[in-house]
Amino acid sequence: MIALPEIRAQFPILQQAVKGQTVAFLDTGASAQKPQQVIDAERAVYEHYYANIHRGVYYFSEKSTQEYEAVRELVRAFIKAEDPREIIFTKGTTESINLVAQSYGRKVLQAGDIVIISEMEHHANIVPWQMICEEKGAILKVIPINDAGELEMDQYRAMLNDRVKIVSVTQVSNVLGTINDVATIVNEAHKVGAKVLIDGAQGVVHQPLDVMALDADFYVFSAHKLYGPSGVGVLYGKRTLLEAMPPYQTGGDMIDVVTFEKTTFAPLPNKFEAGTPNIAGVIAFGEAIKWVTSVGFELIESHEKALLEYATSALSQIPELRIIGTAENKAGVISFVIKGIHPHDIGTLLDHEGVAVRVGHHCAQPLMKRMKVPATARMSLGVYNTSEEIDRLVAGLKKIIALFG
Ligand code: ALA
Repeated sequence: MIALPEIRAQFPILQQAVKGQTVAFLDTGASAQKPQQVIDAERAVYEHYYANIHRGVYYFSEKSTQEYEAVRELVRAFIKAEDPREIIFTKGTTESINLVAQSYGRKVLQAGDIVIISEMEHHANIVPWQMICEEKGAILKVIPINDAGELEMDQYRAMLNDRVKIVSVTQVSNVLGTINDVATIVNEAHKVGAKVLIDGAQGVVHQPLDVMALDADFYVFSAHKLYGPSGVGVLYGKRTLLEAMPPYQTGGDMIDVVTFEKTTFAPLPNKFEAGTPNIAGVIAFGEAIKWVTSVGFELIESHEKALLEYATSALSQIPELRIIGTAENKAGVISFVIKGIHPHDIGTLLDHEGVAVRVGHHCAQPLMKRMKVPATARMSLGVYNTSEEIDRLVAGLKKIIALFG
């Protein structure tokens, strides 16, 4: 049915046979595979011009600095931010959220203030807020979800008042696939003067983003889910907010003048980029953005939507299987459980069939509790997936069910 051979052909890892067969890779939600262009770009940095950035007066360092900073501009354009200084490179979504919690959170939160998250958050968007709330005597409130896995927006509205200082919510659930109405979340929070962080780790990969139109105060994501290298992430923040925030980490490359008595800090973005970053990774991330842009979100969205519908329909026909997360508006993620078979057994036996899915609590233990399951199996889609891979998943599951009798 649906196959995009020319896109798939660009992923060398998907061409090889493992234990006699190609791998049906259905775990892009955990991390995407990399196109040749990205692999080549990282290698080229080390082969041709690698050196530390912002420090050398020689060719290699100047070239590395220039290429690294060019990616900042690429990211700015990709997410439609106003200014490249609003793009901070981190090591991933987790570090970006910790940065905002530890810097902005510590600065603004006072005892009795409220931080709102949701019941479907990844641990990376729970624990940093829990810790800073504990430290400051602030209160962490949680937007509940319904049985389909959608946010209870009326209850969110009812939670908002002038003690709410921060709202931090995911755009797309890594477990349920639910696409949240983040524009309304931002809009409602702003009415009471709260600032909003959107966790875009699973969101930025499926649809185009315009941070200025969204009016998010902070938007965070990882390169590795966007077909780029691991160990690279982005914190977007509105410039006025970032400028007023204290540094998160201190050290080299983020200072202005250091004396033993006092240190002054570099302007944005360097203030938040202490130490030597993942230079080659950032440069290769630039290639990933160019690659995604050349494929285009029109194709990515329509292909993943068609595959999601195909997979939902095929999995729904297995009587023993229950899909966890049936929101009306979903991205290419399907969690499921099968009566009487532990998800870990499902994952291990699917691996024998050459099908890769993630199993477990998906770093979302409170969500597992809400959905009354200890764990799930989860398939998640990338632009390289095909309907034949879904067929292999379904055939594998039927075999496992038959095996368990
Ligand atoms: N957060 C990633 C996932 O959902 C790792 O699998």
